[in-house]
Amino acid sequence: MRIASFIGQKGGVGKSTLARVLAVAASHEKYKVLIGDFDLEQLTCVEWSAMRLRHGIEPEIDARAFKSLKKLRKTVSEYDLVVVDTRGLADELTEDVSKESDVVFLPTGTSMDDLRPTLALARRLAKTRSVSNKIVIVLSKTGRSERLIAEAEATIAEAGFDMLNAIWPERDGFQADLDVGRAGSETHNPYLKQTAKAIETAMIALAMGR
Ligand SMILES: Nc1ncnc2c1ncn2[C@@H]1O[C@H](COP(=O)(O)OP(=O)(O)OP(=O)(O)O)[C@@H](O)[C@H]1O
Ligand SMILES: [Mg+2]
Repeated sequence: MRIASFIGQKGGVGKSTLARVLAVAASHEKYKVLIGDFDLEQLTCVEWSAMRLRHGIEPEIDARAFKSLKKLRKTVSEYDLVVVDTRGLADELTEDVSKESDVVFLPTGTSMDDLRPTLALARRLAKTRSVSNKIVIVLSKTGRSERLIAEAEATIAEAGFDMLNAIWPERDGFQADLDVGRAGSETHNPYLKQTAKAIETAMIALAMGR
C-alpha cells in the first residue's frame, strides 16, 4: 500500500482537487484507491465521492473521513493507494502525514503570496530527513501567463525543491466537472483531457513509485 498526500499552508490552492485527480487516475488504472479526507470541516472529497455516486459516474471512488493517522492505518490494508487530503493549514497532522507518505505534494499558485508560505513549509518539513526526499511542489490553478509560470518554476528550483513535471492550469471546465463528481481526465473537453492526462501521469508515477 502506498500513500500520497496533499498538504499546504494556504487554503484554496487545489489540494482537494489534485487529490481527486490522482484518485481518478489510479482508479482508471484499476488500482484500489481510497481518499482519506482529513478536512473534517469541509469534507470536500467525501462530498464529491457521494456526488459521483449520485450521478452514476464510474468507477466509484471511496472517500472516508479520518481524524487520526492511527485510524487510517488500521483501515486501509485492502487498498493499493491511499490519497490523503488535508486542511488548508499546516498543523501537527501535516508533519505526521508527511512522515507516513511515500510522496508529499504541495500545490501552490505562481504568486509570491502563495510561493512564500509553501516554500517555508517545504523547508520546515525538509528538516526531517525521512520527509525531505518526498516533497514535490505542484504549480496549481495557474493562469495563462507563461512568464509567471517560468518565474515560479525558477523560484522553486532556486529553493532547491523538486517540482512536478506537469502543471495544473485554472480552467472553468475543470471546476464545472468537479461540481458534478468528475475530475481531471474525466472531462469531456478534449483539450482539457490532454492537460489532465499529463498531470495524472506525472502524479501517478510518483504515487506508485514507478
Ligand atoms: N484547475 C482548476 N480550474 C478551475 N477551478 C479549479 C481548478 N482546480 C481547483 N479549482 C477550484 O478551486 C477551488 C479550490 O480548490 P480546492 O478545494 O481543491 O483547494 P484546497 O487547497 O483543497 O482548498 P482548502 O484549503 O479550502 O481545502 C475549488 O472551488 C475548486 O473547484
Ligand atoms: Mg481542500
